[in-house]
Amino acid sequence: MTGPRTIIIDTDPGVDDAMAIFYALGSPEVEVIGLTTIFGNAMTDTTTYNALALLELAGRSDIPVARGADAPLVAPFAGPADFVHGTDGQGNAGIAAPSSRAIDREAARFIVDTVMASPGEVTLVPIGPLTNIARAMQLEPRLAENVREIVLMGGNAFAQGNATPAAEANIHNDPEAADIVFGASCPITMAGLDVTQKVQMTRADLARIGRMGNARADQLARILPFYLDFHATTDGLDGIHVHDSTAISYLIAPDAFTWVEQPIRVDTGDSFSRGKTVSSHGHSGWEEPWAGRRAVRILTGADSRRLVELELARLAE
Ligand code: BDR
Ligand code: CA
Repeated sequence: MTGPRTIIIDTDPGVDDAMAIFYALGSPEVEVIGLTTIFGNAMTDTTTYNALALLELAGRSDIPVARGADAPLVAPFAGPADFVHGTDGQGNAGIAAPSSRAIDREAARFIVDTVMASPGEVTLVPIGPLTNIARAMQLEPRLAENVREIVLMGGNAFAQGNATPAAEANIHNDPEAADIVFGASCPITMAGLDVTQKVQMTRADLARIGRMGNARADQLARILPFYLDFHATTDGLDGIHVHDSTAISYLIAPDAFTWVEQPIRVDTGDSFSRGKTVSSHGHSGWEEPWAGRRAVRILTGADSRRLVELELARLAE
C-alpha cells in the first residue's frame, strides 16, 4: 500500500482553482505540500491573497504558499480574466482576509527546493499559466528528471480554444513558458479543453454544494454564481465546465479517463494561433518540430458523471 501522492498545486485562484484546491484537500489520495501562485485569473497579489485565504478557511494554513511570477517570461501579461472570475478572483463575492502570509521564498525556488529534496516523489499540478514551472526548470536543469510527473490543466490539442479561437487561457497567458514545460523529460499529463469541456457540473449539481454546510462549500456557493453566469452567457451552458478540478480527478481516478499520447509544441509566434498546443497527431512524417520530445498524455475523454459525483463527495467532507 503506497501513501498519498505528494503534490504542489501551482494556481491562480480563480473560482475553479478554489474548487480544485478544496477537492484536493478533501482527498486522501493526495497530500498537498504547497501552493505556488501565479497571475492569470487575477494579478499575483490577488491570487496569493486568495490562496492564503482559501487555505485558512479550510483550516490548512500549515500548507506553505509561495508567491510566484507577476508576468510571463517574454511577452507582457494581457490582463486578468475578471469577466470570468470577478475582479477579486472570487466571483466578486470576496473572501475573509487571511492572517497568514506567503513564505519568504519565490514560487520557482520553492518548487526546486521541494522537488530536489525528494527526488522522484513530487507531482506538480499547474492549473494556471506555466511561468513558475518554466522558471523552476531554468533555475534547476535537473528538475524535470527529479519530478514524478506534471499533471496540468491547460491547452487544447483537438478542441478549439477559449481565450482565442485557437488557444486555451492558461497556455495563451505564457506560450513561451508552456513550450519549455512541454519539452521537459518528465511524464506530463495534459487535462486540457479536450477533456475539461466534457466534464460538466449542472446547475443542480452546484446547488448541492450550497447545502453541504461546511465552510469550504459555503465559500464555493458564494463564488460560483458569477462563474455560472459566465458559462451561460458565453457557452449557453446551464452549468460549468470543470477545468482545474479535472487535473485533480486524474490523480485520484485515472481509470475514469481516456487519452492519446503524442508530443506537443506550443505556437510561440505572433499570429492568431499564438498559444495553441499543437500535437504531432501521431503522423510519423511530421516529426520534425516535435523531434526529441517525449509524448504527452493528452486526456481526451472522461466519465463525467462519475467525476462530478466524486468531487461533490469530497467537497462535502
Ligand atoms: C483555465 O483558465 C482559467 O480561467 C481557469 O482557472 C482554468 O485554469 C481554463 O481555460
Ligand atoms: Ca486556474
